[in-house]
Amino acid sequence: MTESQEANMADSVEDLKSGAGSRKKLILALLALLGLAAGLALPISNYFLVREKIEVKSDDPRFAEVSKIMQTSCVDCHTQGMTTYPLYFSLPVAKEIIQKDIKQAQSAFLLSRAQLSGAEKIGSINLAKIATVIGDGSMPPAKYTLLHWNAVLSAEQKQTVLAYIQERQDDSGVALAAIPEQNPFHPDAKKAALGEKLYFDKRLSGDNTVSCASCHGLDKGGCDREVVSTGIKGRKGSVNSPTVFNSAFNFCQFWDGRAKDLAEQAAGPLNNPKEMGSNFPQVLAKLHDDAAYGALSKAAYGGPLDQERIKDAIATYEKTLITPHCAFDRYLQGDSAALNDEQKRGYQLFMEKGCASCHAGVAMGGMSFEKMGTSKDYFAYREKNLHLPYTEADNGRFNVTKDPLDKGKFKVPILRNIELTAPYFHDGSAKTLTEAVDVMAEYQTGSKLEPRETEAIVAFLKTLTGEYRGKKLQ
Ligand code: HEC
Ligand code: HEC
Ligand code: HEC
Repeated sequence: MTESQEANMADSVEDLKSGAGSRKKLILALLALLGLAAGLALPISNYFLVREKIEVKSDDPRFAEVSKIMQTSCVDCHTQGMTTYPLYFSLPVAKEIIQKDIKQAQSAFLLSRAQLSGAEKIGSINLAKIATVIGDGSMPPAKYTLLHWNAVLSAEQKQTVLAYIQERQDDSGVALAAIPEQNPFHPDAKKAALGEKLYFDKRLSGDNTVSCASCHGLDKGGCDREVVSTGIKGRKGSVNSPTVFNSAFNFCQFWDGRAKDLAEQAAGPLNNPKEMGSNFPQVLAKLHDDAAYGALSKAAYGGPLDQERIKDAIATYEKTLITPHCAFDRYLQGDSAALNDEQKRGYQLFMEKGCASCHAGVAMGGMSFEKMGTSKDYFAYREKNLHLPYTEADNGRFNVTKDPLDKGKFKVPILRNIELTAPYFHDGSAKTLTEAVDVMAEYQTGSKLEPRETEAIVAFLKTLTGEYRGKKLQ
């Protein structure tokens, strides 16, 4: 080979090499473009999905706008039977993720078709929740809006929803508020006097050993401070005893809401074989000859005791177990020195972390059923860390409704006097308030707290201890 031939050869090798290089670049570029196209195809394909539209029947034009926003941005996950599945739903992994998300979303929050059409009201607590998640931008979730561009709420749409909700919020009872000076239930004094005697009377139990006060001691924050209660003959119950103080504020009674009010509730423990193991004919027979009851009943109801009067009298007495004048109430009423700096920071965190979206209203709870573990699986955590396996009681609201979405839902407990009622949760699994707050933050709001944040929230919760008959509870 001549020199020039060699040189030519070297050149063509170079050419070949750089040819391969640029081809590689080209292929890479093509692949990138393809990837981009595919990446764009997913969200773009979502634009062309045909969605079912719910017609709005409301005189309020603003509601029509709000419903339209929800129907674009929320129904995929929060309305049963309204999910429009994306094209990629048929991909195996995508399908699993999407279905899991929807299940989690619907057990945390449901918007019904009737509510979207305006035929049924969206309750005030749910309106408050919508305001919270729209206000803090957490809904719709970012991973959804990544692929559903039209679901992103514009600043104007946010404003529309928030203004609509705000107008309905005055007077809705969802905002945290002080317990009013005047007992809002106006209990009749004579019926309450009869109820008080019954409340402390062990003859209401089958073997005369247990009264309501045995498990709801007024000197124990209105509960028994045990993991689960002990009824007659040492029988253990399956859930933690809630406080009777302020229970009149609950929208229904029991963890699973199976009693619609306090009067209906009172029959529960009396007949429960694990609690008082008795029944009304037996109790009435025992109390029949007690002259004191005869007189109290006559004064309250104009006649002798009967089943309905017993239930009503106990319920009326419970309506007197209201505890106003805690430090937080004084703060809400304008005394800014009623809370110290740490407690104020705790209050701020309580609001920022969204605790008040479930622990709402005057009693800070008792307004809705919520899943225990909206953000993470609480029962898996409990089994792994506390070695407590799942029980029937953990089904909560499901035991009443048999609706699978109600599994693990409980009436949100009220937080008034909360420092006095450890251990916490329906299962009594959290020994301290610190533990309960940490679990709540992680499993209900999806954020782990710094130790200082937990301490501040606990300090705030301790300002909720009120007064009964003019004395601070302890
Ligand atoms: C891609 C599905 C998806 C979409 C779309 C979506 N959400 Fe959610 N949403 C969830 C999931 C999952 C949860 C439960 C876990 C959580 O709280 O992060 C949830 C929880 C909620 C909660 C309960 C939060 C709480 O603290 O109790 C509310 C309220 C809510 N969403 C409202 C909305 C509203 C309003 C929209 C529309 C603007 C919306 N969501 C759109 C998936 C979705
Ligand atoms: C053996 C212990 C025991 C006795 C006795 C007892 N309770 Fe209870 N009480 C409990 C437990 C445990 C619960 C929670 C049960 C549940 O939710 O399933 C409860 C729930 C309640 C609730 C509902 C509170 C809420 O936040 O949902 C009220 C009110 C109440 N009891 C009042 C009474 C009255 C009144 C009596 C007497 C007639 C009474 N209890 C007797 C243990 C007891
Ligand atoms: C999605 C609704 C929801 C949110 C948000 C929420 N909670 Fe709860 N909270 C509940 C429910 C439901 C229970 C009862 C759970 C159980 O018993 O298994 C509960 C129980 C509690 C208890 C124990 C009460 C008792 O008497 O046993 C405390 C304390 C508490 N929450 C504080 C908080 C704090 C602090 C936050 C914010 C970091 C918060 N919660 C956020 C729903 C919620």
